Amino acid sequence: MSANPTLVVDDIHTYYGESYVLQGVSLKVEPGTIAAVLGRNGVGKTTLIRSVIAFTPPRRGKIVFENQDITRWTSYRIAQAGMGLVPQGRRIFISLSVRENLEIARRAATGGNEGWTIDSVLDLFPRLRERMRNSAGTLSGGEQQMLAVARALVGNGRLLLMDEPTEGLSPHVVEELRQLIRRLRDGGMAILLVEQNINFAIESADYVYVMDKGKIVFDGLPSDLAANNDVKETYLGV
Ligand SMILES: Nc1ncnc2c1ncn2[C@@H]1O[C@H](COP(=O)(O)OP(=O)(O)O)[C@@H](O)[C@H]1O
Ligand SMILES: [Mg+2]
Repeated sequence: MSANPTLVVDDIHTYYGESYVLQGVSLKVEPGTIAAVLGRNGVGKTTLIRSVIAFTPPRRGKIVFENQDITRWTSYRIAQAGMGLVPQGRRIFISLSVRENLEIARRAATGGNEGWTIDSVLDLFPRLRERMRNSAGTLSGGEQQMLAVARALVGNGRLLLMDEPTEGLSPHVVEELRQLIRRLRDGGMAILLVEQNINFAIESADYVYVMDKGKIVFDGLPSDLAANNDVKETYLGV
């Protein structure tokens, strides 16, 4: 659709020491769309995100963010350029208040970048606004996940990387999260969503990839995946 995808991952190969995990992964995220990567435990989904943000840089291949080749950039520079991470397991600071969690992220963000402020982000999360002074550890699992998303937003990302955000959430909170990410998408944000939750990905995403053993084994529209029982059975166990 767009001539300029927000993110292009081009044939990346990523290792942990001798262990060859990503064996030539390519994908794209267009502006204002949600791309989902589905796959069972251990196929390399988190490694894909770690590769994009240079926590575990690929040994081969190329990563392009908003037309800039970021393959050799540091994680710090990549974050400053406008990528927000919602890590697996949330990783918020449970002993700090909601406000402090957001302020830390806000300070880490570059100045001069228009976009989200703590106040505008809180418009999306009325419950967090009510609990600004509470320590993050007292929030429910769903509220902690919302805080993890809010924190990524105040870092002023234009691309949000989400690693299994529905893990451990009740169906009701998963539905709230689905509405939230669609609202972000409709506001122009690009989202790379990594999931094991196939229904969540099919209902949320504009485009889906399926990964197995470090390779993309399927890509297509969510409706194509929904109709493809072979792929679902072979790679997703449903
Ligand atoms: N820090 C690490 N060191 C060595 N091997 C790792 C490390 N992290 C993950 N792996 C291995 O890489 C493979 C992919 O893991 P991961 O990307 O976490 O999968 P997923 O997120 O899809 O569950 C697995 O075999 C896992 O054991
Ligand atoms: Mg993972």
